[in-house]
This record gives sequence, C-alpha cells and structure tokens, in this order.
Amino acid sequence: MKIVMLGAPGAGKGTQAKKIADKYGIPHISTGDIFRANIKAGTELGMKAKAFMDQGQLVPDEITIGMLMDRIGEPDCEKGYVLDGFPRTIPQAESLTEALGARGEKIDYAINVDVPDENIINRMSGRRACLSCGSTYHIVYAPVRKEGICDRCGAQLVLRDDDKPETVKKRLEVYHDQTKPLIDYYGKAGALCTVDGTQSMEDVFQSIVNILGA
Ligand code: AP5
Ligand code: MG
Repeated sequence: MKIVMLGAPGAGKGTQAKKIADKYGIPHISTGDIFRANIKAGTELGMKAKAFMDQGQLVPDEITIGMLMDRIGEPDCEKGYVLDGFPRTIPQAESLTEALGARGEKIDYAINVDVPDENIINRMSGRRACLSCGSTYHIVYAPVRKEGICDRCGAQLVLRDDDKPETVKKRLEVYHDQTKPLIDYYGKAGALCTVDGTQSMEDVFQSIVNILGA
C-alpha cells in the first residue's frame, strides 16, 4: 500500500501518518523529519535545508527529489509506505509518478487532511516535536505523560524552529501556492480521498481507516 499525505502545514499529516504506519506495518517517511535529522547531525544536506526551512520556504526540488527516491528504494519500502510532506510541488509529484510507473506501480491513496487556515496557527503554537523518533504532541490536544519527554522514545521534546507565527504564515502561503495544486493532480489520477481534519485525532484516524480498510 503506497500512500501520500496531503494537507496544509499543521493539518495533522505527521500525526495520522504515524498511526497509519503502526496499523498497517509500513514505514512512515517524512521529508521534514529527514531534513530535521540532518540539521541535528550537522550534515551538509542539513545546512542547506535549514536556510530554506527557517524562512518557511521549500527546500529546492533538486535536493529533495533525489533524497526521497533513495529512501523509497530501501528494502523496508517493498510492501509500501506512507509519505508525509512529499510530494509538495508538481515536479516532485511528476518525478514520483514517473519513478513508480517505470516499475508498473502507482500511489494507491492520496489522503488530503483538510483543515482551514484559521485552525492552523493555534495548533502550531502548541506543538512539541521529538527530533529522535518524529512523534508529535500538543500541549492541549495531545499532552505527554512526563513534561518535555517523548512518550514513545524518551528523548527531549522541542519547539520546532519554523513554528513561529510569522514563519507559519509564510508556510501557509507557500502551501496554497505550490502544494495545494496536488489535490487536483491526485484527483485526476483517481487516488484522492479527503478527510475532515478538524475532527479529533481519533476521529480523523477512523475516517482514514474507513478508506484504507480495517
Ligand atoms: P514538514 O515537516 O513536512 O512540515 P509541514 O508540512 O509544514 O507540516 P507539519 O509537520 O508542520 O504539520 P503536520 O501536518 O505534520 O501536522 P502535525 O501532525 O505535526 O516540513 C517542514 C519544512 O521542511 C517545509 O516548510 C520545507 O521547508 C521542508 N520540506 C519538507 N518536505 C519538503 C518537500 N517535499 N519539498 C521541499 N521542502 C520540503 O500536527 C500539528 C499539531 O496539531 C500537533 O501539535 C498535533 O498534536 C496537533 N494536531 C494534529 N491533529 C490534530 C487534531 N485532529 N486535533 C487537534 N490537534 C491536532
Ligand atoms: Mg509533520
């Protein structure tokens, strides 16, 4: 099962992708998490990506596409995966379609987690992220058991550098301009399913399970 998560920054793509990965036994691949891991490790890729991410801009396709293609070529991806934050531009989607097409494969589901912009800023300011395992929490909607510590892996939680309100506004602009057209793209490909992302996390997940099958 090959899945793409679509939706604005803060719509809950990461939250739902993790649940999907756990339930269906496929890897959760987040380009944002890969970039953040590289920034933390101080790699050259991380340094390049950070300059764009801190401005709320997209990392250039030349960097992102190759990185993602390498990742989905790894052995754990044979049975499928859930992509979170990729594709984010039409050229990224076209590269993915082409690479899969060459092997007679395709994206089975593009799940659009639909949340209006008004709800986004509020969600982002309360978010806490684990840079070790990629888990995401919220101070009100998804609190941790022990403050500042990841329930899943025990690492220290952080506020993401790009969650400042002015950067979030820029990310939303970039989303509308460059990423939202993918809803149409996957609609035409017959893979699009939209879920109401303003529901509780459990209800959003149930809507997704209804689509993917139990
Ligand atoms: P990325 O890490 O992908 O960030 P994003 O798309 O902006 O999305 P977020 O991770 O901020 O939000 P999310 O939808 O995962 O929501 P979450 O589940 O955390 O990308 C970061 C940057 O990297 C980009 O800006 C770009 O620079 C670069 N980049 C990455 N991929 C790229 C690509 N392909 N090409 C180019 N550049 C790329 O939820 C948000 C909060 O809300 C959490 O606190 C959560 O607990 C809470 N929440 C979730 N669901 C609910 C709910 N139903 N009710 C209440 N609260 C909820
Ligand atoms: Mg995310």
